[in-house]
Amino acid sequence: MQSRKLIRFFKKGRPVSSGSNQQTDANRIQLVLTEIRLAARDTNLYTFERPDGAELPTADAGAHLGLHLPNGLERQYSLVAPQPGASYYTVGIKKDVGSRGGSKWIHDHLKVGMTLMADLPRNNFPLKEDAAHTMLFAGGIGITPIYSMFKRLEDLGRPVELYYSARSRTDAAFLRELSSKSNVRFHFDEEANGKFLDISGLVAASPKGAHLYCCGPAPMLTAFEAAGVASGRAPDEIHVEYFTQKYETATEGGYVVHLARSKKEFSIPAGKSILQVLREAGIDVAHSCEEGICGACETKVISGIPDHRDAILTESERAANKTMMVCCSGAKSPDLTLDL
Ligand code: FES
Repeated sequence: MQSRKLIRFFKKGRPVSSGSNQQTDANRIQLVLTEIRLAARDTNLYTFERPDGAELPTADAGAHLGLHLPNGLERQYSLVAPQPGASYYTVGIKKDVGSRGGSKWIHDHLKVGMTLMADLPRNNFPLKEDAAHTMLFAGGIGITPIYSMFKRLEDLGRPVELYYSARSRTDAAFLRELSSKSNVRFHFDEEANGKFLDISGLVAASPKGAHLYCCGPAPMLTAFEAAGVASGRAPDEIHVEYFTQKYETATEGGYVVHLARSKKEFSIPAGKSILQVLREAGIDVAHSCEEGICGACETKVISGIPDHRDAILTESERAANKTMMVCCSGAKSPDLTLDL
């Protein structure tokens, strides 16, 4: 069981100011922070509701919420066990030592009663609920979408195993609850002489036909994906969610982007992404993370061959070239025509 020295705190409240913009467009909503709970070292659970307390749109396990912070940043955080018909969303946020103003700002400045705009939940990490067997791998704060999947599969009575790796017990969220489960295995680096979870061995030994999911730091995801390939598993049985950028943004330039609907074209110069060029020209393109991890800028490709640099599209989706993330991906062909 957890020997938690951390003090749990709990607050409930209503908005400091109700604001006038309940919802600026169909994909955004105003939320008020109603609760902060400590989940692990440097990790809090933040619960948001609508200012009027009304029901929120349903989100599935694996979905994330896009928060628009008052400092101008937009950040995505996985929802914790979203419930159909609920009037709240909860996200888990770890204060990142290398934070560029997202998690640090939230931990330091976000208080119960403050209101924020949020993009409605998106799900780039959907769960196959009817798989014969599911193995879940979480590293650190990567537990948030994985915990949601675990809860969902348990609720459905589906066979599932969870492997949860953290630096120490103090760094593990949901520890008390998960410790009581026979299908959960923990790995704490501090208690294993600094050795990491043997992810390749576990993937290699996974039952045939099982679906495997992983969310955690980049080295863990890389090891997981490599283990999936080495074990000869079908690509659609291996699922990952990156919460940091996977590939460098394509800024090589030297191609032309044609916008089919607005009948405009733009030469993309070296040093700029497609999104940057379009925004500078006043073209309104939905976007959020600008790192290829949220999916907000996914754009239909009419012709041409994208140079995919996102962490969202599957291998088959990349090969099909029907959509691309314009924040980070470029072009392999001299021309690219987009449905914009
Ligand atoms: S803005 Fe997030 S994937 Fe492009």
